[in-house]
Amino acid sequence: MRDVKTIHKDFPQLGEHGYHYLDSSATSLTPRVVLGVVEEYYVNYRANVHRGLFKEGIRATERYEESRKKVAAFIGANDAREIIFTSGATEASNMFVRMFEESGMVKAGTQNIVTTQMEHHSSLIPLQQLAKRTNTKLQIIPMNGFELDYVKAKELITSDTALVAIILTSNVIGTINDVRRIADIAHKHGAIVLVDATAAAGHIPLSVIALGADALYFSGHKMFAPTGVGVLWVNMALLETLPPSVFGGGMIAHFEGGEPIWASIPERFEAGTKDIGGVIGLAAAIDYLSTFGVLNIHKYVQKLTANAILKLGAIPGVQVLAEHDVTKNIGIVSFVCTWAHPHDIAEILARDNVAVRPGHHCAIPLHESLGVHATTRASFHVYNTIEDVEALVRGVEKARALFL
Ligand code: ALA
Repeated sequence: MRDVKTIHKDFPQLGEHGYHYLDSSATSLTPRVVLGVVEEYYVNYRANVHRGLFKEGIRATERYEESRKKVAAFIGANDAREIIFTSGATEASNMFVRMFEESGMVKAGTQNIVTTQMEHHSSLIPLQQLAKRTNTKLQIIPMNGFELDYVKAKELITSDTALVAIILTSNVIGTINDVRRIADIAHKHGAIVLVDATAAAGHIPLSVIALGADALYFSGHKMFAPTGVGVLWVNMALLETLPPSVFGGGMIAHFEGGEPIWASIPERFEAGTKDIGGVIGLAAAIDYLSTFGVLNIHKYVQKLTANAILKLGAIPGVQVLAEHDVTKNIGIVSFVCTWAHPHDIAEILARDNVAVRPGHHCAIPLHESLGVHATTRASFHVYNTIEDVEALVRGVEKARALFL
């Protein structure tokens, strides 16, 4: 790992000193190198892709397609055509659910869909809507402390299960779930496995094969890419059976008797103009991540996480609500204080330039399982330091002095 002081220089928003950005799980900061690559697109070869025959159009198309290959390698996919660019994880999740429904793979009234109590709303709510539309039951794998209840998972996933949707890592308590274990159960019963890797991307190495996923999605903005770009990956054997769910330009090959014939994969799933600069920036973010190695980032962040859990947990009235085994935590420490609301804590921390997120983090069922309405969340990435943890702890102690 490079010296963190030199890493800081890569991120203009961090400035010279005194800004403690602990909200990377909401969105990471953008390194200069990604900004530079995106600017280069806008300044030198801004053009639409798969259309223009002028040199800028050809260059934009080449860079866009290079990004697809880079993303495929980043998640260990065998075929770059399995990568569909989206506006983010939410669009990817909604798209997959629609495509799955339209394919007729959920048998109305008889089958069920299984998901977990840990899901982000971007996963849970499209599934709830799918269950309503198809009159199927949505079964929820409960939590057992900060982990999933794997015994219950085995009971809930049956030969009536059409789809199992599981979050790889929690955006609230940091837990890295044993997706493979769930996927193996699902596959034994012939169910499809959809994985939300949004909070995991850029924190732990991703391998769609090792996870046993049939489909997986994530956004770019939590892994140093611009906002507005995301990825839906679907295994080719499954993708070939799914119809598109978004319609428009660029996704048909031709008309036959007035009816559209879909373009080949992946174009048929990418209607309209995508965030081309974002897609190119996503590849630059992957290059940036590879200068560290995602596993090295994880190991580095583990130390900060352990320190934060220890020091916050030692403050009277503070309860840490996060996976305490840092080898199973991607770098997130949420907590509650008996003496103040999370929003008060976050506001007091902000006065000292410590940026955290208070609230339910779009994961209300998870908070219900923990018996709280909201938490204050500190989330770490490669640019964070032990000084950031100390500033966080100082700020929480200061808040306590203020409230008691
Ligand atoms: N999903 C993002 C978060 O966890 C926005 O904050």
